[in-house]
Amino acid sequence: MTFSPFNPPDLPDIQGEVMWRSPSNIAIVKYWGKYGVQLPQNPSLSFTLSNSYTETSIHYQTLKNTTSDAIPVLEFYFEGKENPTFATKIEKYLQRILADFPFLKNLRLRINSSNSFPHSAGIASSASGMSALVLGICSIEQELKQNAGQEKLKQADFLRKASYFSRLASGSASRSVYPEAAVWGTSETVLGSSNDYAVPFSDCLPPIFKNFRDDILIVSKSEKSVSSRAGHALMNANPYAETRYAHARKNLTNLVEIIRLGDLEGFIKITENEALTLHALMMMSDPSFILLQPNTLALIEKIRVFRAETHLPICFTIDAGPNIHLLYPAQVSEKVQDFIQSELLSLCTNQYRIVDQMGQGAKQLI
Ligand code: PMV
Repeated sequence: MTFSPFNPPDLPDIQGEVMWRSPSNIAIVKYWGKYGVQLPQNPSLSFTLSNSYTETSIHYQTLKNTTSDAIPVLEFYFEGKENPTFATKIEKYLQRILADFPFLKNLRLRINSSNSFPHSAGIASSASGMSALVLGICSIEQELKQNAGQEKLKQADFLRKASYFSRLASGSASRSVYPEAAVWGTSETVLGSSNDYAVPFSDCLPPIFKNFRDDILIVSKSEKSVSSRAGHALMNANPYAETRYAHARKNLTNLVEIIRLGDLEGFIKITENEALTLHALMMMSDPSFILLQPNTLALIEKIRVFRAETHLPICFTIDAGPNIHLLYPAQVSEKVQDFIQSELLSLCTNQYRIVDQMGQGAKQLI
């Protein structure tokens, strides 16, 4: 997949600002293991969230007479404070994509970013953070193109491009740009799916899956002991890797059909199987690692007992960390809220949880 780079011989003296809000997402079929340049070993399917998001503004101004082929030093503010460590990371990423966005070497950038969820809440911010940044870069390109009298990308192509370059920054970020649900990775069951970028999946959602709820039960706010980058790398020598990739492909194929049919029982089975398989893979890596904590298991136990007793369609999933995402249809919200209050919050750190639900994808604010 290639995108023709916008490479004007000379940029006019110009400045402007763009701003995006981009949400986090929760994977139902997980991406765990990669090859080549951040390509997934198996397709994944996620629900886009609503309340957990990053807002990023980018102020840009032309730098005249630059002869350097490097990204100019940029200013990066996280939650109002200058953050040179993040700035260096972003400079490195922009350097990697410079051949595709050559105009960046002629721009001075000032980036302001903040998350809707508290820093160190145990919520991974790379999906929302990197997609918000990349959407901003793609929007600057649109503005410069328009300024040069060139045709801008159409909405669907714009989002595909943003998804492609978000993927290069953080795999799961590729899925965050789309409303409701997205699939990243080639699967025969999803038309147009690709390892290079995610594709929207919302057309396939029956009403029962619309506005699906996700209460994120925070078991620990600490930074995880093993990064997902290291976790993905450990899959290369995991003796179960090939079996896992085949199993994930099958889970995705089945899940697509299950969602189309509105089959909640099937959904629960695959969702919990995927979460536990992800953590089993971590335990089977060499060196092995365990991100689950005692209260993660206590919550799982409570959720399963409650489901068996009430027959309500709730289930859990878990990301690369100890926190539980409690998933359920909007229709059963009231009963589930009572259950969370009475049985689950006491197992969360400081009774902390984030109330979230399926959302409408990334939004341009400026
Ligand atoms: O995108 P990364 O490199 O942060 O990896 C994400 C891995 C999981 O969150 C565990 C699964 C997923 O598909 O989001």
